[in-house]
Amino acid sequence: MVEPLVLGIETSCDETGIGIVRGYTLLADAVASSVDEHARFGGVVPEVASRAHLEAMVPTMHRALSDAGVALSDVDAIAVTAGPGLAGALLVGVAAAKGYALAADKPVYGVNHLAAHVAVDTLEHGPLPEPAVALLVSGGHSSLLLVDDLSRDVVPLGSTIDDAAGEAFDKVARLLGLPFPGGPPIDRAAREGDPDAIAFPRGLTAAKDLAAHRFDFSFSGLKTAVARWVEARQRAGEPVPVGDVAAAFQEAVCDVLTAKALDACRARGVDTLVIGGGVAANSRLRALATERAGRYGITVRVPRPKLCTDNGAMVAALGARLVAAGVAPSRLDLPADSAMPLTTVNV
Ligand code: KG4
Ligand code: ZN
Repeated sequence: MVEPLVLGIETSCDETGIGIVRGYTLLADAVASSVDEHARFGGVVPEVASRAHLEAMVPTMHRALSDAGVALSDVDAIAVTAGPGLAGALLVGVAAAKGYALAADKPVYGVNHLAAHVAVDTLEHGPLPEPAVALLVSGGHSSLLLVDDLSRDVVPLGSTIDDAAGEAFDKVARLLGLPFPGGPPIDRAAREGDPDAIAFPRGLTAAKDLAAHRFDFSFSGLKTAVARWVEARQRAGEPVPVGDVAAAFQEAVCDVLTAKALDACRARGVDTLVIGGGVAANSRLRALATERAGRYGITVRVPRPKLCTDNGAMVAALGARLVAAGVAPSRLDLPADSAMPLTTVNV
């Protein structure tokens, strides 16, 4: 079969993304971000994000089609993030997908944002060996999943019981006076610091926690420990060593994420770990995962940083897997579901 040409639309948070793929090949990845409009609030403001999606949708669509050198009439299907995410932001993408699908007479697939974060790796590394374990680490989610087949529903192995990994980066960055979103500036600051300078806690790794939470994560204790440490310094009138705090915090997060992900691979007899979501762009996470996996003969697949953060190509990549597997399209009245379960790949 000729690989399907699929256009993907992503609007679940603050990036308006339109991607175009042919099977496993990326043809266009147009992204317009409203992140600068949210920076002064220290987090994404839903109404601001929705309005920015409305404004960016048509120009981003034109840019993607022109980058790929295709017309809307050429595509085999339109995929769109149906959830999870911000309700108003999702609505803009879903409404746009329906409008384009109706106008161009194309099938539409409403897909799960989190499964798309996993599927995007196929654009860089080709078909995903199955089964694989996926470590999904974004601003809103941190989960371990068993993926048997990208076009079918996934099996959750564990997830965060409090903050998401990206949320922890964003909150710690704020404590350190670094800009939003906090992942990239912490990643940079950490390069100047010593990861062993401060011993921060590793959530849910003590023997007593493993029985009930072997594959779950917790980052709120770590965030509190960083806050206490920084406050103590400030109270003592001493300067805060931003590089050391960033490096020690980042090390604690990456240590737990990689240890639990590799434990899941070994427990399930799986030899491929795929990492996705914005935090997968973190340089230390990528290096530590690869280094530790090598000891067990496990292969780590992480897409390049630009494909880790939100974009439309990931939605198109998942859409292409669904079309190729012969999965039926969604109904044209498909809903935007802000709380779409992790286990549902498409609606
Ligand atoms: O997947 P994503 O773009 O959006 C969501 O679906 O949430 O993830 C955004 C998150 C933010 O919390 C951001 O701080 C984090 O990914 N992030 C990083 C890095 N780049 C982005 N975290 C750590 N290191 C990075 N280099
Ligand atoms: Zn995301």
